[in-house]
Amino acid sequence: MKLIPEDKKLYIKDLKDFVGKQVQLECWMYNKRESGKISFLQLRDGSGFVQAVVEEKDVDSITWDETKKATIESSCIITGEVVPHFKEKDKFEIRISKFEIAQLAAEYPIGKKDHGPEFLFENRDLYLRSKTPWAVLRIRNQVFLSITNFFHEEGFLRGDTPILQPTSCEDTTELFEVDYYGTPMYLSQSGQLYSEAAIMSFGKVYDFGPVFRAEKSKTRNHLSEFWMMDAEMAFYDQDMNEDLQERLVKRILKDALENCKQELEILERDTTIMEACIAKPFKRMKHFEAKKELEGDGFTVNYEDDMTTEEEIALGNKYGIPVFIEDYPFEVKSFYMKSYVDEKGVKRARCADLIAPEEAREIIGGSQREDDYDVLLKELKERDYPVSDYEWYLNVRKYGSVAHAGFGIGMERMVRWISGVHHIRETIPFPRTIVLNRP
Ligand code: 4AD
Ligand code: MG
Repeated sequence: MKLIPEDKKLYIKDLKDFVGKQVQLECWMYNKRESGKISFLQLRDGSGFVQAVVEEKDVDSITWDETKKATIESSCIITGEVVPHFKEKDKFEIRISKFEIAQLAAEYPIGKKDHGPEFLFENRDLYLRSKTPWAVLRIRNQVFLSITNFFHEEGFLRGDTPILQPTSCEDTTELFEVDYYGTPMYLSQSGQLYSEAAIMSFGKVYDFGPVFRAEKSKTRNHLSEFWMMDAEMAFYDQDMNEDLQERLVKRILKDALENCKQELEILERDTTIMEACIAKPFKRMKHFEAKKELEGDGFTVNYEDDMTTEEEIALGNKYGIPVFIEDYPFEVKSFYMKSYVDEKGVKRARCADLIAPEEAREIIGGSQREDDYDVLLKELKERDYPVSDYEWYLNVRKYGSVAHAGFGIGMERMVRWISGVHHIRETIPFPRTIVLNRP
């Protein structure tokens, strides 16, 4: 019998090109329904899912016995003809002529009954094979590609930054300390400070890698290890920074809606709001305006403080598009941000957090950076930072300082928004949180 294709391995995603042909697939059987002389096997090979039908009358007794014997998650090699699905348009199935078990799987612990998230994440290595993780993590892959392509097209250099860092970038209470040949070092919270030095050579850089926050809180929005893309641009102010972020987020959404249709369908994601976000300009409002707005809506707000979870969710719901909350009180933001004093005498940071709708909350944090040597030095001293460790960082302001700005996008926050899953632990293959640290 002549199999197609003869020269390369065939994957389920390509079956549509082989209707009426005899094909061979290497796959796993994730489910099976048997009724007398006919069995329906649900198969997956990483690229997609397909149903295969086997009838006793069409196959030899060895093949029939093997299909009977096959357990859930057994690996197998099947041969058969690709035919249109008997009821779903644009879908295909396989009429099996030959079935071989590659490895007969032991009894699979993840069954058809509803398992709680604890059980699923204790068995994350196996749970990864289920449809929801498959769809979510393929969206993650698309987001990664979109970000990489966007920055490449925009003329950025990918300049990677170290994970072991001698100083803190964000809040010092959230540092993981490691013993580095007898000297304390910290796992990176963000590559930003290093990217600031790099733009003085390359103009525009981005990094992409794992970052770490010793988050004491147990929320559906926080991981202890997550992936962040930091971008940094020379000769840039905060308005230009927000324009760039808006274009990036729109690009990510557009690519995901175009290229992840099957994944979004599996997740039963209603994409109406995301589609609107591509078409409309994002909202931009000052921190005090946002607080005032929320006060008008019945919240008891603190004008001097960060946005609370409830406030971020309310703003996202109210506007239904991403909202840049600009110019937070400097006190609640990081030491490196450029500051100014407003007409009421409040010291503010030239910054913005980008709040996404649909309860996705803050997906980006960014700011213009302090570019004056003396102002930055004073701030480091005021916050009791070990100034000598930041000498190299101060140098950025000593030799040809320029206005510059940047931002960091949380990969998993972005994926959580697009996929619509409840908890951020779904958006990374092997999550690390205060309660999850294995497998
Ligand atoms: O707002 P953050 O802390 O900003 C920075 O780290 C800057 N140095 C970035 C920069 O300007 N280059 O973090 C950036 C983003 C947040 O907006 C959020 O999306 C995500 O990282 N993030 C987290 N994601 C998951 N779990 C956590 N614990 C996170 N903390 C921040
Ligand atoms: Mg932030």
